[in-house]
Amino acid sequence: MIESAANMVSASMGEVPRSGAVIAIDGPAGSGKSTAARRVALALGLHYLDTGAMYRALTWWLQEQKVDLTDTGAIVARIAEPKIEVGTDPRHPRIDVDGQDVAEPIRTRRVSNSVSTVAVIPQVRALLIAMQRDIIASAAASGAGIVAEGRDIGTVVAPDAAVKVYLTANEDVRAQRRSAELGDPAASVAAVQQDQARRDERDAAQLAAAADAIRIDTSALSLDEVVGRVVAMAQSRAVPRG
Ligand code: DC
Repeated sequence: MIESAANMVSASMGEVPRSGAVIAIDGPAGSGKSTAARRVALALGLHYLDTGAMYRALTWWLQEQKVDLTDTGAIVARIAEPKIEVGTDPRHPRIDVDGQDVAEPIRTRRVSNSVSTVAVIPQVRALLIAMQRDIIASAAASGAGIVAEGRDIGTVVAPDAAVKVYLTANEDVRAQRRSAELGDPAASVAAVQQDQARRDERDAAQLAAAADAIRIDTSALSLDEVVGRVVAMAQSRAVPRG
């Protein structure tokens, strides 16, 4: 079972997206979407949901349980067991499995290299998408709104999102970012690039830009520039605070 601990976050000054607005940010690994999405949420005083962390948390748990990840039936039989809790405060994004903070272990190369195998299973997607929709609906209902990021937010999870962004970056930039993010000397840019190509292939089924998404190529942009563009897009559809 996945539960949302959707903490209220205070809105910043100025204009904010319409009450309860949903901002969907999709894109491939290394496109910079996680950091950008969290920063957008902080800037606009919205909740933040990292859907990739949910697929990672489930994969981590399955590995801990020594479930054979080549056996889809064995995976499906166990997916309802772990209690995964997601915190949506962008100042302290949290992901717990059965009460254990797994924010670090879900970022290891071991999880990264297996997560797309798990994420492609329809029953896994149905379970996590239902939970993501609940989290998004409760943030929207609270009036705070939410920035949700992943691969299929604008297309499947929240097709009615007020703002949809699709971030891309060229392969070299993506691998460099990922390697720096991992902070692991063993994760050379070349090795990361190889892992990335494999994951891209498996993630391709989920990854699609919504027809109404705004594409931003982040290859030559700083993080501040990416955040600035998304915030401006959200504010252009905003209502004054008051
Ligand atoms: O964004 P990330 O690298 O943390 O995502 C981890 C994996 O989860 C990645 O292989 C794609 C998958 N994923 C997905 O299928 N759908 C999402 N909405 C988010 C992530």
